[in-house]
Amino acid sequence: MQHFRHYILLFLILPLIAFAEDGSQLWLRYPVNPKPRNIVNSNSKSPTIEIAKKELNQHWAGQAVDLKIDKFPENYKDGYKIVSTPKKISILAKTDLGLLYGSYHLLNLQQQKADFSNLKLEEKPSYDVRILNHWDNLDGTIERGYAGHSLWKWEDLPNKLSPRYEEYARANASIGINATVLNNVNASPNMLREDYLKKVKVLADIFRPYGIKVYLSVNFSSPKVLGGLQNSDPLNQDVQKWWKDKAAEIYKLIPDFGGFLVKANSEGQPGPQDYGRTHADGANMMADVLKPYGGIVMWRAFVYSPSKEDRAKQAHLEFVPLDGKFKDNVIIQIKNGPIDFQPREAFNPLFGALRKTSEMVEFQITQEYLGQANHLVFLAPLFKETLDSDTFSDGKGSTIAKITDGTLRPAKLTAISAVANIGEDKNWTGHHFAQANWYAFGRLAWNHDLSSKQIADEWLKMTFTNNKDFVNPVKEIMLTSRETAVDYMMPLGLHHIFAGGHHYGPEPWGDYKGGRPDWSPVYYHQANAEGIGFDRTKTGSNAVSQYFPPLNEIYNNIKTTPENLILWFHHVPWDYRMKDGKTLWDELCYKYDLGVHEMRDYQKTWDKMQAYIDQQRFSEVQDKLKIQAKDAVWWKDACLLYFQTFSKRPIPSDIEKPV
Ligand code: GCU
Repeated sequence: MQHFRHYILLFLILPLIAFAEDGSQLWLRYPVNPKPRNIVNSNSKSPTIEIAKKELNQHWAGQAVDLKIDKFPENYKDGYKIVSTPKKISILAKTDLGLLYGSYHLLNLQQQKADFSNLKLEEKPSYDVRILNHWDNLDGTIERGYAGHSLWKWEDLPNKLSPRYEEYARANASIGINATVLNNVNASPNMLREDYLKKVKVLADIFRPYGIKVYLSVNFSSPKVLGGLQNSDPLNQDVQKWWKDKAAEIYKLIPDFGGFLVKANSEGQPGPQDYGRTHADGANMMADVLKPYGGIVMWRAFVYSPSKEDRAKQAHLEFVPLDGKFKDNVIIQIKNGPIDFQPREAFNPLFGALRKTSEMVEFQITQEYLGQANHLVFLAPLFKETLDSDTFSDGKGSTIAKITDGTLRPAKLTAISAVANIGEDKNWTGHHFAQANWYAFGRLAWNHDLSSKQIADEWLKMTFTNNKDFVNPVKEIMLTSRETAVDYMMPLGLHHIFAGGHHYGPEPWGDYKGGRPDWSPVYYHQANAEGIGFDRTKTGSNAVSQYFPPLNEIYNNIKTTPENLILWFHHVPWDYRMKDGKTLWDELCYKYDLGVHEMRDYQKTWDKMQAYIDQQRFSEVQDKLKIQAKDAVWWKDACLLYFQTFSKRPIPSDIEKPV
């Protein structure tokens, strides 16, 4: 009897577990065919094709599918064509991976209830390397990670394998991501130890059929620390030999290893400058040892070291003089803005300024400065804002997208990267809507012409439901959410007024005397009795001069500077008249207040969504929105009360009183 009861209990609970809506399925909620089908034919054979077949046989409900390798031009890479008749669908590509991408595209369209009777489409990736950067440490923690510990179980590898390794690869392949850096840019030299490389090999083997190549962050001091050499000077022949042998060892284990990502001479990390050498000396030494195997070096331009200069100028100052000195398998990885992944920054003036060197963007998907795993902030509009920015480097229309994808200047190497927000949480990213940011990066890396709206629309349909009464209002939340976060955190070009260290809440009063000035929020907002904002004009730090004409003049002039960046470039008097006639002080007050109201509206909209989706995700998002709305009030009150001590002006009476 006792046993019997257990069985009944199990019988009741099992379906609940099977259909638990914990977010673990991400956007891959393809319907499962009731009976296994055998509807796929292919003229190619490989583990990658086997995956495509399995996915379609299990999840594709429509006509028979032909996966065909065909003749395409040399530079076609992993693009594909899909052509259909009511009876048959053909996916044509140059590579097996192209066929797998086409198969996922089909499943994606099925989720969106597309018409398959007469389909004709062609897709080509915008970038060759579409790469996630994990800031995961070997001890399992993640720098700036908000979704639990690392997915990579270094202690268990290479013997015990988590099923999530393959699920991770599948999710990435489904959106076209084809590369991953497994470890933190603040890299432990141990990453290159033989025992760790054997663990990495196992991950690379799992990812390979999904078209994902593995890369590693490396510590510049590895020859000294791991190899026991006297130093790690890139011009020392023993050092060069150490790297050469290391490359040989890696490629023996992982023949398609992608290459190295390097953070050097920044925030205390070692680098070639420790030996009086340049970034080019360091990068080229590594490029030489990787070259015979087809590997690349992604050398970061995020250099943040003690300097008398405005921090925003540092990357441009250090890298422009080195243009033309880098080997052709080096690509300079540049954060979207010149400071550090702020809610809004002017774009990084280094884009377009390196004329003879490949450049790539680094975005941050993990929300270090955007409410971490508590705030719903859809990042596609931020990514698009950068990619669509016109640098004027080669005249009008020189957008960052066109510079980095090789359209404007034929580039040997094209790539795009972003710091991942993935951890071992059940829902992968901490917040259900943070999954959309992983998805959005993948989609834009594949096709940077997609609109934020389209990405939000397809993600919502795949992840939640096709019901337009849900999709339309929630899409509106997503599309406005980044601007809302800017409003309640740091409107009008304010930046880096976060609490020190963890970067979660406000601390505009932060003044860490004794430390470097550019560690303190007061350095960035410069509020005083006259006004607020960082003067980067010709009479200030002259960071404007790093932009190409006419932008240098546009940003130099307070009247022509876009108002959403006015405090980024100017120290503005409190009574300055904004375009809408309000004083700067009042405008600041209304912006903060608007952010709070927008959050309350999101809550009201979300509360009406209960009927359309599962209870679990509904209430988990509802709870997070509560935190976010409270945080918005916290930001508004803290910032306005603090800035008021300088402005000495009243907060407009129609704004909710700070407490
Ligand atoms: C930021 C971040 C650090 C990170 C650094 C980087 O400063 O706070 O944690 O190491 O960026 O990108 O290297």
